[in-house]
Amino acid sequence: MKVLLLVFSGTNNSLYVCTELKKEYEKHNIQTKVLKLEETEELSDDYDLIGISYPIHAFSTPRFVERKLKELNIKNKHYFIIKTSGELLPLNSASSYYIYKLMNKNNNTFLAEYHILMPYNIIFRFDDAVTSRILKANRNFIKKIAYETSNKRFRRIDFKKKYKLIRNIFKIQRLGAYLNSFLYKVNLDKCIKCMKCVNNCPTKNIKYENGKFKFGTNCLMCMRCSFFCPEDAIRIGFLNGWKVNGKYDYENLKQDNLQYENNKRDSFYYKFLPYLEEHEEPFELDYEIQKDHS
Ligand SMILES: Cc1cc2nc3c(=O)[nH]c(=O)nc-3n(C[C@H](O)[C@H](O)[C@H](O)COP(=O)(O)O)c2cc1C
Ligand code: SF4
Ligand code: SF4
Repeated sequence: MKVLLLVFSGTNNSLYVCTELKKEYEKHNIQTKVLKLEETEELSDDYDLIGISYPIHAFSTPRFVERKLKELNIKNKHYFIIKTSGELLPLNSASSYYIYKLMNKNNNTFLAEYHILMPYNIIFRFDDAVTSRILKANRNFIKKIAYETSNKRFRRIDFKKKYKLIRNIFKIQRLGAYLNSFLYKVNLDKCIKCMKCVNNCPTKNIKYENGKFKFGTNCLMCMRCSFFCPEDAIRIGFLNGWKVNGKYDYENLKQDNLQYENNKRDSFYYKFLPYLEEHEEPFELDYEIQKDHS
């Protein structure tokens, strides 16, 4: 079996999940490739299973993901969806409605959708203790995803009308992203001209000309530029108060010492407990791989 994981990831959370899932498949000799959507123009046809992964933006799929999937015109495959987000509100549950419709229209077979909790890349930074606990739970969750998808387990999905409606209302965020793109600015006193922002923007929306940075109107609000700027020199318009700067170092997190229970944001983290408890249970099904996925 050959698996393709197609990912869009602003700040590496969704990419991290796909990389871990690839490792899990490969432990079981399932050939797996991870492709970034922004670097993918066309696909070869020799994959048996396709995973689509993205971050939830304002209760929806990033517009970029929808557009790219339409262009790639994937047909006659089994597929599943992995969305990552910083909270588990049911409001997020209709985020993939568009791609579900698109993929099914092209005669693809939906297997399942998985919602993986990952730290916020906007609003505020999750602390190390809670992040470490989330990642630990996610390791089991990812094993389960590898098991279920490679065995072609179907999970029904139910897009509730009210969440579809809310998702559509929040599409206004896309207009907001467009308007906000006029307000991005670089603080030249802080900037060290490393050009990370210019080189890594998924839509090539940032130009550096005549000593000045120019942001175009094709911003996805993915946060990649401001999140990874080594000098925290980028203002993200009217969302600046919510900016998170500096990557999460998932390899070197402080151990889970439950400090977060005393954190002033404990009521926010408290809502994660059912998710954590569910996925902290080791996943120990015997792993069997369906060799023929046709
Ligand atoms: C513009 C924007 C909107 C977001 N909206 C939501 C949201 O509606 N619900 C949520 O749980 N997280 C939301 N998040 C948080 C991200 O979904 C979360 O941190 C995700 O794991 C980031 O993944 P990435 O690093 O692959 O981009 C939002 C992040 C951004 C940048
Ligand atoms: S990433 Fe930050 S420091 Fe580097 S060029 Fe961009 S604004 Fe300047
Ligand atoms: S300008 Fe920044 S936030 Fe906008 S798409 Fe590019 S990297 Fe992402």
